[in-house]
Amino acid sequence: MDYSLREIVSSYNDQEPLDHAYTIPAAWYVDDRIAELERQTVFGRTWQVVARADQLQRPGQFVTAELAGEPIVVVRDGNNQLRAFYNVCRHHAAAVVTEDEGTASIFRCPYHGWSYGLDGSLKGAPEFEGVCSFDRSRNGLVPVRAESWERFVFVNLDPQATLLADFLGGLGQRVAPLNLASVHFFERRSYSLNCNWKVFVDNYLDGGYHVPHLHKALNSVLQYKQYTIENEDRYCLQSSPMVASDVDAATSATRTGDRAWYFWQYPNFMINLYAGYMDTNLVLPDGVDRCTVVFDFYFDDVSDSAAERNRQSILVGERVNDEDVGICESVQRGLHSRAYGAGRLSVRREAGEHLFHRLLAADLKAALWKISNAR
Ligand code: FES
Ligand SMILES: [Fe+2]
Repeated sequence: MDYSLREIVSSYNDQEPLDHAYTIPAAWYVDDRIAELERQTVFGRTWQVVARADQLQRPGQFVTAELAGEPIVVVRDGNNQLRAFYNVCRHHAAAVVTEDEGTASIFRCPYHGWSYGLDGSLKGAPEFEGVCSFDRSRNGLVPVRAESWERFVFVNLDPQATLLADFLGGLGQRVAPLNLASVHFFERRSYSLNCNWKVFVDNYLDGGYHVPHLHKALNSVLQYKQYTIENEDRYCLQSSPMVASDVDAATSATRTGDRAWYFWQYPNFMINLYAGYMDTNLVLPDGVDRCTVVFDFYFDDVSDSAAERNRQSILVGERVNDEDVGICESVQRGLHSRAYGAGRLSVRREAGEHLFHRLLAADLKAALWKISNAR
């Protein structure tokens, strides 16, 4: 039987308290129409991380990205102002900036040579004399909103969106004492997974539920029973006291400190902190059945003498991630099964997932309501 998009979205009850709640239905993870609705409403309307602040520190530095299928360029302009544009030439739509990142004083389109200033204004259009009613001032790159917070640069495709600080809500205050400025970017690694992006987010937000079963080495340095889960605004903080352990030497050497801090900000960004260590995860959908997770690793010491230790630390993270990838792909296969519709949530552990599902449902329901009102 074929259900309509409206039926699929409304089959999740986002009003139930945690002890009554179900997960979002399996169809939300496997139906192309949900993925398309998310592209337009979740990724097309929320603040999304597109770069690290250290990539956009000096005038002329730029980064290109793709967000919700849109090519974007973010740049620090000549007046030190952060700007973002659709990376689409106003002449015949070619990508103006073709490198992933770099420094420029002007953007020149590789197709017919139109050039744009770092403020987006059209500076040059070769051989365009005699074109009637062509107003250069109306042919600059189309702007996108950009703001930065802590070590991260965000853009938002929705011109009506709230300020980034309002979107992040209490996260700013919660993160501030943890001094993210004390670590420095070391390396990026990206992983492709055969699962819907929400499977990875759910796995992250299960309050450590899977850690003793799936990540034995990591579990040995966490005090699982003391693990806390706090929801506020659009973020969830999962945190655990840490203990010394001799189960796995590499884990014990690289996952240290009093507490582990795991922040998730709706919809797809995570910040993980141990002493002298941070990694961030950005989860990007590649269609309904695939996603890419971008890990950026930061360390307190990124000098050559610490490189070996840092690589060992990344390997520890990769092993945990390998374990997560295997289970996420298994979950995606299960979500396609006729045997599964939706599951219940652990009250002790899975409040973060519940928050995620309710925020997502609110966005999808609001979008459908908008669409039907526009008809
Ligand atoms: S498409 Fe850019 S100059 Fe023609
Ligand atoms: Fe995990």
